[in-house]
Amino acid sequence: MAEFVPVDPFDIVIFGVSGDLSRQKLLPALFHRHCDGQIDETCRIIGVARSRMDDEVYLNMVRESCQAATDGDFPEDMWSGFAKLLRYHEIDATSQQADWQPVKESFMGDDRPRIFYLAVGPRLYVPICKAIDAAGLKTSLSRVVLEKPIGSDLESAQSVNDGVESVFDENNIFRMDHYLGKETVQNLLILRFANMLFEPLWSNQTIDHIQITVAETVGLEGRHDYYDKAGAVRDIMQNHLLQLLCLIAMEPPNSLDAENVRAEKIKVLRALKGFDAATVNENTVRAQYTRGHIGEARVKGYRDTLPEELQDSTTETYAAIKTEIANWRWAGVPFYLRTGKRMTSRRSEIVIQFKSTPHNVFGEGQNQPNRLVLRLQPDEGMRLFMQVKEPGPGHMTLRSIPLDLSYARSFSTLKYPDAYERLLMDVVRGNLALFMGHEEVMAAWAWTDDLLSAWQENDQKLEHYAAGTDGPLHANLLLGRDGRAWWDDNNEAGA
Ligand code: BG6
Repeated sequence: MAEFVPVDPFDIVIFGVSGDLSRQKLLPALFHRHCDGQIDETCRIIGVARSRMDDEVYLNMVRESCQAATDGDFPEDMWSGFAKLLRYHEIDATSQQADWQPVKESFMGDDRPRIFYLAVGPRLYVPICKAIDAAGLKTSLSRVVLEKPIGSDLESAQSVNDGVESVFDENNIFRMDHYLGKETVQNLLILRFANMLFEPLWSNQTIDHIQITVAETVGLEGRHDYYDKAGAVRDIMQNHLLQLLCLIAMEPPNSLDAENVRAEKIKVLRALKGFDAATVNENTVRAQYTRGHIGEARVKGYRDTLPEELQDSTTETYAAIKTEIANWRWAGVPFYLRTGKRMTSRRSEIVIQFKSTPHNVFGEGQNQPNRLVLRLQPDEGMRLFMQVKEPGPGHMTLRSIPLDLSYARSFSTLKYPDAYERLLMDVVRGNLALFMGHEEVMAAWAWTDDLLSAWQENDQKLEHYAAGTDGPLHANLLLGRDGRAWWDDNNEAGA
């Protein structure tokens, strides 16, 4: 396991510290970095929220969050050191009357990185940045972190970006897509750009099509306020899925500097084929889950989990699309993307399916193509399916067998740090490579807006799927019409 390199001392202010993101991800991530000795004891982790909490209540809340995110025994000896870094201030950050003095007094200096993490809804990004500025909290070493989705469409993203950029320079704005902090997602760069093997094959000459899946078993987890307005396309496709697509499809960058990587990703996003009312029906599926079972558990339908006034919601919890990248490398190669909540199993996976051999000498049904299956989570690893002869005399039966690289087996002591751990330390270091740039976000929204307005124009039908299934039947037709099928890991029967 790699050693952790300590980062310089820093102060961080977490806005919305009592919310889900802070409790489930940010506070545990900082705690784990503290446990590994990466965070200096002079760092200050300053929570801000509107809730009234005295120190004891706050410390209990943080401790419970860290405990819940720790496998096995909670390291008691580490907790007391971590607790000393914590401060909490009850502030309504958008109020003119807000008193910032206690926050100022919590900072340990202005010659160290000062991070403002906005773990709040995007509509508060600009007001909070302005408040930070007006209160004189910003220093030359200040950075702001924004969570995806930035806005809810191209126009609102533009106004969020403009507002935030009126306070912070682009180089100090860290737009978070936590998928980029996942070890296995970073491994896509290594696979493509540190191995010679695949690059000569990485194009329409040899690749038949590509599938990218982000499937979840979870539902809304109490987030209906946000999710019912967002839906699967804004929540996952506009960011996580498009980022994965970019890493798979972009040209090799000149270096891993943020500027170079972003420039290549933007080219992909701009070359991504959009939709119009005439093409959207055939190339996309939108759907919502109804009640069903996941394993033994009975699961309510999407609408049944919503408050009464939203019971006729038509928000999609599943989306699948077929698109193409209009450039020399990828012309003619379909990219099938899908994401859904309450599906059979949790998995994020990319399947690169190669073309079949041009001439089959082994007889009917013996011409399975090679496939490279990249498993991002869980059971991280990659498998390259090859055709081999089934042992035995007197016949020539071929089987598709994987060369199997499991990260867990290869790195036997491996425990993946959560994506937020890596990304938070990158913010402290000022390393923007795994964060999205302004233009990148805008290009992703331009494509997404196109899809959403084609759906609206076309009055796109909402399909349904039972919770605990792999999505609606129509999603199978999306590939079926092309003589293909979604890769199914359980029976490895995709085609
Ligand atoms: C978030 C979405 O960005 O990603 C959630 O808002 C989703 O709806 C989550 O559940 C999935 O992340 P992960 O890391 O569990 O795949």
